[in-house]
Amino acid sequence: MATSVYEYKATPITLMGLLGLSDDQIKQHEKLYNGYVTNVNKLNSEIARLVDEGKESTPEFAEQKRRLGFEYNGMILHELYFGNMKPNGGELPSASPLYARIVESFGSYENWDKDFKAVAKMRGVGWAIMYQNPTNGLLSNHWVTLHEEGHPAGYIPVLIMDAWEHAFTVDYAPTERPKYIEAFFKNVDWQVCANRLVMLEH
Ligand SMILES: [Fe+2]
Repeated sequence: MATSVYEYKATPITLMGLLGLSDDQIKQHEKLYNGYVTNVNKLNSEIARLVDEGKESTPEFAEQKRRLGFEYNGMILHELYFGNMKPNGGELPSASPLYARIVESFGSYENWDKDFKAVAKMRGVGWAIMYQNPTNGLLSNHWVTLHEEGHPAGYIPVLIMDAWEHAFTVDYAPTERPKYIEAFFKNVDWQVCANRLVMLEH
């Protein structure tokens, strides 16, 4: 067994007291997140073993490499999602550089808000993500299917919302995603989002 593979550690999720999202909801969600970290480590270890044994041209190697996109993004996106929430979050201050970027990119905050929430309501299992293009600083909203399909290459994730049903079905019915979206926006840590920006002069 290869022993040199880096082992990821799950970040403890300490979020409590969110508005409209119970502590139990977050705890259940954390368990799912921990599973992604476990599976990333398992896959990396198994892939290294296959390489050690000269089996890198096998279907097993190819399948496990394909699976990495799902498990890695499941791990990373949950860290970003939990990381951009806090109790007593709230509205993005209009004086924030992030607000200015949103207006520059979408014409108005209201346009951005409608666009992001429309993405968040899309049918299917995935994520709503506001990204920044690091080459021109502009922002755009994207739907990511599962954890891995639809990411714009090289863009910086700024605001991440989990749109899988497991993100809200402890507290809401599967048909109540709009209520979850409303709750999510009461708990956004906009300062964290602003800190993720690359502030380019142009
Ligand atoms: Fe999730």
